[in-house]
Amino acid sequence: MSESLEGSVALVTGASSGIGEATARALSGQGAKVALAARRLDRLEKLALDIGGSGRTALAIEADITEQQQATEAVERTVSELGRLDVLVNNAGVMLLGPMADAPIEEWDRMIDINLKGLLYTTHAAIPHLLSAVSDSPRGVTDVVNISSVAGRVASAGAGVYTLTKFGVAALSESMRQELSRQGVRITAIEPGAVSTELVDHLRPEVRDSVRGRFDDIKALEAVDIAEAIEYCVTRPAHVSVNEVLIRPTAQK
Ligand SMILES: NC(=O)c1ccc[n+]([C@@H]2O[C@H](COP(=O)([O-])OP(=O)(O)OC[C@H]3O[C@@H](n4cnc5c(N)ncnc54)[C@H](OP(=O)(O)O)[C@@H]3O)[C@@H](O)[C@H]2O)c1
Repeated sequence: MSESLEGSVALVTGASSGIGEATARALSGQGAKVALAARRLDRLEKLALDIGGSGRTALAIEADITEQQQATEAVERTVSELGRLDVLVNNAGVMLLGPMADAPIEEWDRMIDINLKGLLYTTHAAIPHLLSAVSDSPRGVTDVVNISSVAGRVASAGAGVYTLTKFGVAALSESMRQELSRQGVRITAIEPGAVSTELVDHLRPEVRDSVRGRFDDIKALEAVDIAEAIEYCVTRPAHVSVNEVLIRPTAQK
């Protein structure tokens, strides 16, 4: 049995493209009011208009979540303008691959700042609201969905610092589950394999070519495939907590 998200509010970070955009659409389709956070406000406003056009509520919030104040403000605006917070999807992230030797340190900093610190800042601001929303939640629970990766389960050459961040997200998720689930906050780690999004556009050209080459012969997942997995997890009845979803393209090694 699936629980509707009618009366619930979801905040999705990194909602301006890819998995975040598809997830915002999916949660809105289940009845949630959605707050959309990212840096590209034009993309968020277009998505909010689109969602609004189908009679649902969406709020575009320009935020660079690597800045603690902006991450906190994104959460506070969600609660003040949409009334509460029931579902946080920590999705914003970057994947800057390549060998460790001679890697630009700036790329490592960006991955740590967005994938780890941005997620932590947003989560820190959200926890009190998620806890207080449990008691009058139409579903009896609230949710945090952390987007990890297959790279959070399996380390590989050329992905060192990305795997460092995603193993961290997976470990943090289990720790959060042990701390928060008895109080009604469910924690889910989603671990996608290759998904066709803008993620690889940020790679250095020489790295991008070799990554694309590795996946040329397989049909990648679409963002909506991950959004549907997230939708499944957060619409389970209150006594069911899906803690981990590992989802690869069928042909991915
Ligand atoms: N695609 C895959 O194969 C794959 C596989 C496993 C895991 N993942 C994970 O899935 C998540 C989403 O990635 P995607 O594949 O959908 O790629 P994407 O289309 O590039 O989306 C990344 C999102 O993160 C946002 N973002 C980046 N820096 C930000 C910042 N400082 N503050 C706020 N938002 C920021 C981007 O928005 P702005 O640029 O507008 O800020 C964008 O909306 C990531 O955590 C990624 O690691 C992806």
